[in-house]
Amino acid sequence: MKSSNVKELLSSAPKHQEVVVNGWVRTFRSNRFIALNDGSTINNIQCVVDFENFGEGLLGQITTGAALKISGTLVESQGKGQSVEIQVKDIYVHGGADPEEYPIQPKKHSLEFLREKAHLRIRTNTFAAIMRVRSALSFAIHQYFRQNNFYYFHAPIVTGSDAEGAGEMFRVTTLDGKNPPLNEEGEINYREDFFGKETNLTVSGQLEAEAYAMGLGKVYTFGPTFRAENSNTSRHLAEFWMIEPEMAFYDLDANMDLAEDFIKSVIKYILENCEEDLQFLEKRLLDEEKTKPQAERSEMALIEKLKFVSGNGFKRVTYTEAIDILRNSKPNKKKKFKYPIDEWGTDLQSEHERFLVEKHFKCPVILYDYPAKIKAFYMRLNEDGKTVRAMDILFPGIGEIVGGSQREERLDVLRDKIADLGIDEEELWWYLDLRKFGSAIHSGFGLGFERLVLFATGMGNIRDVIPFPRTPQNAEF
Ligand code: 4AD
Ligand code: MG
Repeated sequence: MKSSNVKELLSSAPKHQEVVVNGWVRTFRSNRFIALNDGSTINNIQCVVDFENFGEGLLGQITTGAALKISGTLVESQGKGQSVEIQVKDIYVHGGADPEEYPIQPKKHSLEFLREKAHLRIRTNTFAAIMRVRSALSFAIHQYFRQNNFYYFHAPIVTGSDAEGAGEMFRVTTLDGKNPPLNEEGEINYREDFFGKETNLTVSGQLEAEAYAMGLGKVYTFGPTFRAENSNTSRHLAEFWMIEPEMAFYDLDANMDLAEDFIKSVIKYILENCEEDLQFLEKRLLDEEKTKPQAERSEMALIEKLKFVSGNGFKRVTYTEAIDILRNSKPNKKKKFKYPIDEWGTDLQSEHERFLVEKHFKCPVILYDYPAKIKAFYMRLNEDGKTVRAMDILFPGIGEIVGGSQREERLDVLRDKIADLGIDEEELWWYLDLRKFGSAIHSGFGLGFERLVLFATGMGNIRDVIPFPRTPQNAEF
């Protein structure tokens, strides 16, 4: 007989029909009630068993974590809390879970403890809810771009370029670490390496996406991205997923319009399609916040916050305006910022970004027209000669969620910039070609997928919104 999933069963009319379901025991009480979950929904199905009909041996195997196949009839529930339940006729134990050893017991475990058990934490309500929302968001992202006539483009993972120029790359090599070939200068000879040159894991698919946008018009990447930044924060991963749309003939305004519409649209999607999981996550967050001082609690509950963001305009402010606001802000005057703001041209730290979003504007903010000096080489220089057409989107509780720009399409200006920064032009020969042959204005941005999932789920640490996080000193599993 074909098996059903728990979600289907919970929404079926109970007519004593025969059903089969597979799943894992969440709880087992009074030697009679099994709460079974199979990942299809946050809710469990209650299975009522009369163990007199079965041997003692079976009873002992029904413990939290055991995988079961249950056959029985779907009936109206006698108890409270659920509308249907299964009256069990037969149980097959796929695999037991020794209660002495199985770490995920039906009690509250800390998120830190569960990080050490990342292979089993998906069997908790919290992680299952997060990962269902993560999956729904991925789908919504592909759907959004498809509906807006973008092509999904696969940027290479192994590359020779450092798109962001930040040098935070993981090297890819097959050379013998103990005994690498050396060149005449006594340095490692990468000509003898697998690719005949130095290569690394990509920090961004942007440069390659630009090449494709200049032929397909509108493309986006959605793939893994690697950064060897040694920042052990709740917002950084060494391996994260990034969505990078790139559009020919878009200027910065069109780029900002797209980014805003895109984020709102995918949040709306989960509001419509992940209601139960979001309700669960909202309650989890409220419970967690009860333990915090009033000042640290969020002003809005999770779903209200998602509705607010998807239903209201993002505030657009230039870097220069933002610096003025920050310079005159209370925390700056009272020397509360770790990095005080005095001069135009300093890079903004996350404390500044969060002040702007959470205290000053109280809504998502798009900062644009940044000083050229603090941004990457490929951003288009403004007429003032000192700012570039960059934009960052800042979110409450998160800080920077998007970084993007209009790209420099003028060959001479780009060449000067590359020379100023001491980048070897030869390394970027193909990127410069794009400015030689049919160049045009174009723009794009990068959205950190895990930061979006953090925001959408109300979680506080980025390690909890990716299945198996990679951070400094941590690549277990
Ligand atoms: O601002 P970033 O560095 O921009 C770029 O890489 C551009 N090439 C994007 C583009 O224009 N196509 O990174 C973009 C976003 C950040 O805003 C942040 O959300 C996320 O990627 N991000 C990280 N997320 C998790 N862990 C990290 N270490 C991250 N570094 C960046
Ligand atoms: Mg950035």
